[in-house]
Amino acid sequence: MAADRMKHLLCASLILWSSNCYAVDRNNFKTCEQSSFCRRQRKFHPDVSPYRALLDTLEISHVAASLNLLHEKTQVLLKLEICGLEDNTVRFRITELETKRPRFEASDVLVKSPRTYRLSVEKQTTEELMLLGRDSLRISVSARPFRIDVLSGGELVTSVNARGLLLFEHSRTRGNTLTERVSSTVGSMWTKLKAVFTSGKEEAASEEKNEGESPEGEEKAHEKQPDLGTDEKEDQEEMVEEEEEGTWEESFKSHHDSKPYGPMSVGLDFSLPGFEDVYGIPEHADSFRLRTTSSGDPYRLYNLDVFQYELENPMALYGSVPYMVAHSPERTLGLFWLNPSETWIDIASNTAGKTVFGKMLDFVRSANEGPQIDVRWMSESGIVDAFLLLGPSPTDVFRQYAALAGTQALPPLFALAYHQSRWNYNDEDDVRAVDAGFDKHNLPMDVIWLDIEHTDGKRYFTWDPNKFPNPADMQNDIAGKKRKMVTIVDPHLKVDSGYSVYNEAYSRGYLVKNKGGGDYEGWCWPGSAAYLDFINPEVRDWYASKFAYESYQGSTDILFTWNDMNEPSVFNGPEVTLHKDALHHGGWEHRDVHNLYGFYQQWGTVGGQLRRSGGNERPFVLARAFFAGSQRFGAVWTGDNVGEWSHLKASIQMVLSLNLCGLSFSGADIGGFFKNPPTELLIRWYQAGAYQPLYRAHAHIDTARREPWIFGSDTTALVRAALRERYALLPYWYTVFFWAYRSGMPVMRALWIEFPKEEQTFLIEDEYMIGNALLVHPVTEAASRGVNVHLPGAHEVWYDVHTQKKYSGGQEINYPVKLSTIPVFQRGGTIIPRKDRPRRSSACMSGDPYTLYVALDDQKFAEGELYMDDEHSFNFEKENEYQLRHFLFKDGTLKASVSSHIPPGKYSSIEWLERIVIVGIAQPMLSIMMKQPGSQDVPLAYEYTPELSSLIVRRPGVRLTADWTIVIR
Ligand code: NOJ
Repeated sequence: MAADRMKHLLCASLILWSSNCYAVDRNNFKTCEQSSFCRRQRKFHPDVSPYRALLDTLEISHVAASLNLLHEKTQVLLKLEICGLEDNTVRFRITELETKRPRFEASDVLVKSPRTYRLSVEKQTTEELMLLGRDSLRISVSARPFRIDVLSGGELVTSVNARGLLLFEHSRTRGNTLTERVSSTVGSMWTKLKAVFTSGKEEAASEEKNEGESPEGEEKAHEKQPDLGTDEKEDQEEMVEEEEEGTWEESFKSHHDSKPYGPMSVGLDFSLPGFEDVYGIPEHADSFRLRTTSSGDPYRLYNLDVFQYELENPMALYGSVPYMVAHSPERTLGLFWLNPSETWIDIASNTAGKTVFGKMLDFVRSANEGPQIDVRWMSESGIVDAFLLLGPSPTDVFRQYAALAGTQALPPLFALAYHQSRWNYNDEDDVRAVDAGFDKHNLPMDVIWLDIEHTDGKRYFTWDPNKFPNPADMQNDIAGKKRKMVTIVDPHLKVDSGYSVYNEAYSRGYLVKNKGGGDYEGWCWPGSAAYLDFINPEVRDWYASKFAYESYQGSTDILFTWNDMNEPSVFNGPEVTLHKDALHHGGWEHRDVHNLYGFYQQWGTVGGQLRRSGGNERPFVLARAFFAGSQRFGAVWTGDNVGEWSHLKASIQMVLSLNLCGLSFSGADIGGFFKNPPTELLIRWYQAGAYQPLYRAHAHIDTARREPWIFGSDTTALVRAALRERYALLPYWYTVFFWAYRSGMPVMRALWIEFPKEEQTFLIEDEYMIGNALLVHPVTEAASRGVNVHLPGAHEVWYDVHTQKKYSGGQEINYPVKLSTIPVFQRGGTIIPRKDRPRRSSACMSGDPYTLYVALDDQKFAEGELYMDDEHSFNFEKENEYQLRHFLFKDGTLKASVSSHIPPGKYSSIEWLERIVIVGIAQPMLSIMMKQPGSQDVPLAYEYTPELSSLIVRRPGVRLTADWTIVIR
């Protein structure tokens, strides 16, 4: 039984009285020492790499330069492929030259097959090979010891295997020494397994049940390992080298991993000279800038349902993006390790004394040695498939990563507005009351969420017949308010012959199998649960059909989806997830694909939403587990955080990291999931959340109700103000999201992304930019009276968006705050579109007029953009129905025209401009004239405030999609 989980749930309900329960149970999750491949990899520290590059095996094609690597002790051969990719990117793949069991390759993660070009040979001797690529790229391969140096613009930017840590555990059979070459055993097991998956579920289904619950069961199942067969046994060599415990099978707590294919991990090191700051590899509840790991565990990537996660910890969490970005004033570099199996990452730095929090760079660097980061990646199975994104600027790296893993799906506008969730809204009346509460208190809100209790006994795609007897009527009422709803759809299925979704999945053989071939069963919310095998495209296709209105009874077109528990969470499984030797479509072990499970579920769900609208409407799906590329499917959030100040602070670091790694549409539960946040914290969280991409309040079932009006009128007013700031800025958010979709630029940006040369920004993780124009420094301390805001850029100017007060850049200010203050600054030189009329929901704002906020820099210059389309369909892609407007203020003239950044679209709208606010403008002013082609010049009314150098131009009255010029003389 899910005893642990039950204990935790109990613990969670006790938190109202005691805070002692709040700590992760670390014993439930492995350390590197407890993960045998991590231990083996980490222990491997040769003086010189045992690998030699056989340069005479070099073959060059349009796809790759390939050659063999020889392990000088085991004589095992590997195949190295070096691919020159378009746009200053290099790919390294290392596979086994001979193997009977293929290794998993995560090609679905790539948005398309990367375009390669032919590298040429500049020089080749027996000891060294110099390859020449585009964009002044040179790749030198040294034969012995094997090492690759990548040079860009004549500078060494990355060395591969410089520390000799390439360790590729080749396929072999138990009992043989490391010197044994690939045996037929693995191959024949593979063939048997493939047969199970291709020929029939019947056999499989009749096999044993999985052994999840009892160690005893595990033992038995373990005894039923496929027999090696006589021939295969004869294949084995006599010499048996002593191998570390855990190499061929391992146990963790009461769980056994049979490891039928033995050890097959891969590891490799990358040295990054010139860098001392590296970021990324979400998801961890840790600092934004990565720490060095020599004194503790490496960072771990293994999607897990970590109950009550701890901060400042490299432990794995719900999602994994094996991608990091190194940055220095000279260059930005991306490193993408495409491997979805359990992965650990060690980081070393020769400037490791530098602290994240202090301003002092208290490191000691030897006289001639420049800074350097060393990274070591270690994965349990699969291949080495690493991409080096050579930048050189941050923008280049974002574009290069987007070409591989794709960009953020453009959300429908409502999804960028405010979401109201809790576990649970009890019934239809409750939903209607919450909806009415937002109206009564003049609080904008777009989406109401229903958690697991809305279902009939945790059977997803159903409704509790007593609490939600008329779900379609309820949704129609909500739709009448121009709002939407979301229901939760988890990946596990209640094992129940009366549940049609389970029955169908069972009879079609769509469930994950245990190692013996029977359907895997574990415990989750419904009790005994089976797990859909989303790795199978046919399963995803079938799953998509379950979202059809006729299939998902009671669903309507305003209903969207939340995919939770998709690490996947198995309450009684090892580390609360599936057994690694469970089996998927194609015979892959769960170990091979673990980190992709949630990615594939979200993919299937998005498919369902697309299909139900005939491909016309943009989906909205929130997922807890994710992998590189999940941004193509929707949004993610940081899971079960706590209503404490430290978690509010951590949400900034975590969401920054997700944004850096492609997942722009991300956020944290507003207010914190566990515990009842003090009112002040709740207010601060609403304020901070207004400036994070996903803005959703959510709470645990045992917490007290916390709809914003519950805490009195003062609190309601403060939350209202925060929500209104979000809604007023929706046109800006939408425009920034458009660019995330179009070019891969993150929505929420660390300061260094905008100020890449400014070293002080490299350590800052408590303030950030939204797009290129807004700088935000949320208040994350109790009883705060002020925050220290770093205003970057010695030549920049900044304007407080609330007071219009001007500050020069290149300084840190102590900015006084009250409970109502959200410190936000507009960068001089930018123009931001807003809609300043408060409404009930984002859809109610459609047709509302705009205001342009023009913030001039010291050259009296500013520019900005506004992206417009129908805000919900794919017509922007299919029919070019969009507009990207460009606004330029220069020489006293504000000019609106179509942007030249993308081809002109044909969306037309009647929305008009009601105001222009210009800050940083000097008087005197004699007249302000609106000029439009074919019309007479019209003088405009204005108001000037000399103390603030601020000008308000009243009712320009022009359409946003028209071309016009305003001349100020
Ligand atoms: C875990 C999720 O993280 C949480 O947000 C949700 O409320 C519970 N599952 C119940 O579905």
